[in-house]
Amino acid sequence: MSILSGKHILLGVTGSIAAYKAADLASKLTQAGAQVDVILTSAAEKFVTPLTYQSVTGRKAYTDKDLWGDEAHVMHISLGKTADLLVIAPCTADTMAKLAHGIADNLLTVTALAATCPILIAPAMDGGMFDHPATQANLQTLQTRLVLVAGPAAGRLASGMSGVGRMLEPMDILGHIRIALGKNGKLAGKKVIVTAGGTQEAIDPVRIITNHSSGKQGYALAQAALDAGAEVTLITTPTTLTPPVGAKLINVKSVQDMLDALLKENADALIMAAAGADFRPVNVAKEKLKKRDGIPQIQLEAAPDILKTLSSLNGEKKRFKVTAGFAAESRDLLANASEKLKSKGLDLIAANDISANDAGFNVETNRITLLFANGMQDILPLMSKAEAAEKIVEHIARLLE
Ligand code: PMT
Repeated sequence: MSILSGKHILLGVTGSIAAYKAADLASKLTQAGAQVDVILTSAAEKFVTPLTYQSVTGRKAYTDKDLWGDEAHVMHISLGKTADLLVIAPCTADTMAKLAHGIADNLLTVTALAATCPILIAPAMDGGMFDHPATQANLQTLQTRLVLVAGPAAGRLASGMSGVGRMLEPMDILGHIRIALGKNGKLAGKKVIVTAGGTQEAIDPVRIITNHSSGKQGYALAQAALDAGAEVTLITTPTTLTPPVGAKLINVKSVQDMLDALLKENADALIMAAAGADFRPVNVAKEKLKKRDGIPQIQLEAAPDILKTLSSLNGEKKRFKVTAGFAAESRDLLANASEKLKSKGLDLIAANDISANDAGFNVETNRITLLFANGMQDILPLMSKAEAAEKIVEHIARLLE
């Protein structure tokens, strides 16, 4: 997660049972390369100890004792000034009220008032407290002041009842943090569409023709575009993956569904990472094919070529300023990729050698060569799909300049 690498995150923890989950958030942020300084309120200390956070961040966790320490007069100022983002998770109704009214009576609220960095809160409280007009008014005040708000979610609350008030899960808060940090990135103000996963062509109501695409590369691209500040639409076939926070999702199955979805969209860039079917059954049986009827003869026809169809819509109908494709090849990698780059009217194609067992379908890594319409090449070594996605997104940002 290079978006978090080297970033200074100030994590405020307030008095909610969700404070134990914030330790996981602190750990995830630290593992992603951020420098995480934690401030606990005295109520948070009733649920967790500073040591919990020190153990996962490797740094001193601050408490109200530090407010009256030797460096008190400067510490709150420096913490709030050097941070890239102040995250308050969990944020109780009490702390929300203090933030809304400029009350600065503990180290966290003093720091928040002095902070010059953006602030993100993840509210956590009983459903009734969240719904209360006072809390809602405070929320509105904070949003008017551009405080970012992640959650709360609906679900089981500490009271045993259900309602809206649960703190978002750490992974979701992490997603909101990434959006906050990427806001002014290279793709800020740009719209990017990413397709992901293997398409499914129905044979009958039970059976499909599909492929080994897991969607990992496409989802990584959607996340990388979000990290760069883009507005992202992810058109995805069914996968087991969790979509990145902030992406607009469009669920599809077949190549035709994917094409139909794309024909309704406009964007600055399209990245076609999905593995689309080249063939599909001519007829889809309405009822399940039965064994007792013998082995079915399934006749195939060409499925629509999405990229070719889109590139034929030129002139005013051209929907994407930059179009990137992928080539999944088991032989003659660059020759085949280069042919696809031209025939599909692409600005760039990522050629991946699917014969290697550490690249291509359903693995965590990829080894790709990027070919550009102007003849330029960028040969990338083996890297994680997230890193490959970042490289592709960098090139797309450059092409859009
Ligand atoms: O999903 P993962 O498990 O992470 O694996 C990633 C991946 C290997 C699927 C991905 O990196 C990849 O290579 N995707 C494209 C796979 C593919 O369909 O390649 P192709 O060479 O058959 O198609 C070339 C391009 O045409 C692709 O951009 C494809 O999206 C597009 N296409 C394909 C079929 C079709 N009917 N219409 C299309 O537009």
